[in-house]
This record gives sequence, structure tokens and C-alpha cells, in this order.
Amino acid sequence: MSKFLIAPSILSADFARLGEEVEKVLADGADVVHFDVMDNHYVPNLTIGPMVCQALRDYGIQAPIDVHLMVKPVDRIIPDFAKAGASIITFHPEASEHVDRTLQLIKSLGCQAGLVFNPATPLHYLDYVMDKVDVILLMSVNPGFGGQSFIPATLDKIREVRRRIDASGRDIRLEIDGGVKVDNIGEIAAAGADMFVAGSAIFAKDDYKAEIDKMRAELAK
Ligand code: DX5
Ligand code: ZN
Repeated sequence: MSKFLIAPSILSADFARLGEEVEKVLADGADVVHFDVMDNHYVPNLTIGPMVCQALRDYGIQAPIDVHLMVKPVDRIIPDFAKAGASIITFHPEASEHVDRTLQLIKSLGCQAGLVFNPATPLHYLDYVMDKVDVILLMSVNPGFGGQSFIPATLDKIREVRRRIDASGRDIRLEIDGGVKVDNIGEIAAAGADMFVAGSAIFAKDDYKAEIDKMRAELAK
């Protein structure tokens, strides 16, 4: 896997043509498909579930699918996503009754596991599970909608998580989600992130490749 991963959020794609959209954004240089699952309970919006993940696999999508669960309860939907072809499954620790158990459940199903932190969620949930996480996802907006602005306080949080990852000696991805754009991706990477979710920044443009190329150029600086 390359040093920096770009993960377009399909929340901002055209759902009427989802297979084509995902195929195109991958052909245009994306690494991972970011799949936002919202339940109108944990977050105020309702999106897509395991059937859509399976449909993308049946369509022929082979890239990793990064399932971001914004749902409560968490555990009972996880086996369905593993069966539907999810590669990574992340969840919000405050939405799980037993964080360690949920991480173990995801890994027992052969997926990579991760915790997601809202802008105001403290990092203490990581204290005793660093050996079980493959990904740490920091929300740089409040979850529920695409197209919001990056919250600058996230940069300090990224630096803190980067310190914890380096101290752990483990190969853990540090993923940032919300308001990531060409003009801030360099700064986010400099703070220590290595996986970038971008929804509106890519799908609102006509030319996905041009946008992804510009992001890569910023990351190469
Ligand atoms: C928000 C989602 C994000 C969102 C990102 O709850 O988790 O993945 O789609 O969208 P942008 O890049 O438009 O902020
Ligand atoms: Zn997301």
C-alpha cells in the first residue's frame, strides 16, 4: 500500500449511477472507497447499508471498501457488512456498549478494524486497544452530512494521534474525514495523517482525475 491513501466518500456521488461513479473515481486515481453508513439515530441522516456494498462488489469493484459506521447499536450490522465485502470497518466508540468486543468482532470476520472520533470525542478510548486497531479515523466535521468545513482544532488532535501511533510501533492508518480539499490536504498530511476522505471536493467536480492529481501533488510537496 502506498504511503498516502485517497478515499473518496461516495456520499457525494450520484447514487443513481453508483457503480459507474465508483469505477470512474478509482480509474481516476482513488485508492479506497469510503462508504458512509448513517442510521437517522446516531446521526441525523439516512444512507446506505450492506446491500449496496454487496451491489458494488457484484458490479466488479475490487478496491478496498472502507465502511464508516455511524450507527447505534453497532454490533449487529457488522457481520452483514463483512459478508457484503467490506475491507475496513470503523465505528464510533461511544456508539458501542463494548468497544473491545466490537473490535474483536470485526477482526474475527477478516476485516480491518478502526475507531472513529468525533471532533469533541476524547481519545481515551484508545488507551487499552491500540493493539487491536488497524485504523484511527478522526472526524474533522460533525458526522451526518457531506460538504461541511474542516474544523481547525483537528490538526492538534492529528498530531496527538500520530504520537500515539508512533509510540505503539504498530502500522496503524490515520484517516481524516470531513472538509478535506486540495487547499488543506498538505497541512493535514504534515500534521501526521496518511489517509484522506474527500467527498464533495471530488464528486462535486466534473473532472475527478484533475482533483485527485492536485491532491497527490500537494501530498508530494
Ligand atoms: C460525514 C461523512 C464524511 C463526508 C465527507 O459524516 O463521514 O465521509 O461524506 O464529505 P466531505 O468531504 O464533503 O466533507
Ligand atoms: Zn465518513
